Amino acid sequence: MIYPLSDRYTALVVGSSGALGQAFVQHLQADKRCARVLTLSRHTSPALHLEEEASMARCAQALQAQAPLQLVIDATGALTLDGKGPEKRLQDLDADAALRALHVNAVGPALLIKHLQPLLARGERVVWAKLSARVGSIEDNHKGGWYSYRAAKAALNQLLQTAAIELARQRPLMVVAALQPGTVRSRLSQPFVGTDALPPELAAAELLQTLQTLPATGRAHFVDRLGKEIPW
Ligand SMILES: NC(=O)c1ccc[n+]([C@@H]2O[C@H](COP(=O)([O-])OP(=O)(O)OC[C@H]3O[C@@H](n4cnc5c(N)ncnc54)[C@H](OP(=O)(O)O)[C@@H]3O)[C@@H](O)[C@H]2O)c1
Repeated sequence: MIYPLSDRYTALVVGSSGALGQAFVQHLQADKRCARVLTLSRHTSPALHLEEEASMARCAQALQAQAPLQLVIDATGALTLDGKGPEKRLQDLDADAALRALHVNAVGPALLIKHLQPLLARGERVVWAKLSARVGSIEDNHKGGWYSYRAAKAALNQLLQTAAIELARQRPLMVVAALQPGTVRSRLSQPFVGTDALPPELAAAELLQTLQTLPATGRAHFVDRLGKEIPW
């Protein structure tokens, strides 16, 4: 049985300055059942920096009065860091760049769960959705390349799975989801995609519909925007 989010639910969009983040905010603001849409990004006050844990503590403190949260969508992520795009071959692999990719895409998002977890609703459906990527699937890796981003998304997925198991002990109705949005027009994807990339508004709308269909199983889901499971 899938319990819906409570009427008048509170949503938080993290990375609200990004293409998908903005699109999620717009859809949630238009949802009559959503009482409040809170936002966090590097441009909000307080600001959220994925490589600075203290900023997460400040954000959690600032949001305390708005708790409980029933829906959190973390739409942060980076593919190009310090002007360096994804590696094409082993020769391009660089330790500092790889560690930064892991920090921004995996460790930072997990630390965010650590800090916001006390604010999550209990005794009702609560959803933590994190934008992951199909390229994080080890089984689905047929093309190679993009070492750091792939590894970071695979690490993210493992961290989400582990958190899902722990969080379900106190919140049996909790859903944790690692989401693949499709190829979407954004700053992140712009150097790598053609004109056929999806508008972020469409991807966000489909992802929100998919989130409604996911049951609380005590394990994380790794799904695309149409709800199709992706192998870990
Ligand atoms: N677009 C696609 O085709 C695609 C495909 C698969 C997966 N995804 C995933 O979808 C998510 C959203 O991507 P998008 O396409 O919407 O990209 P985007 O428009 O570039 O948005 C990325 C967001 O992440 C934030 N961010 C990046 N580094 C950060 C840091 N160190 N601290 C705090 N915030 C940081 C950005 O903040 P600023 O605005 O401050 O830079 C922005 O809000 C990512 O996880 C991405 O991996 C996207």
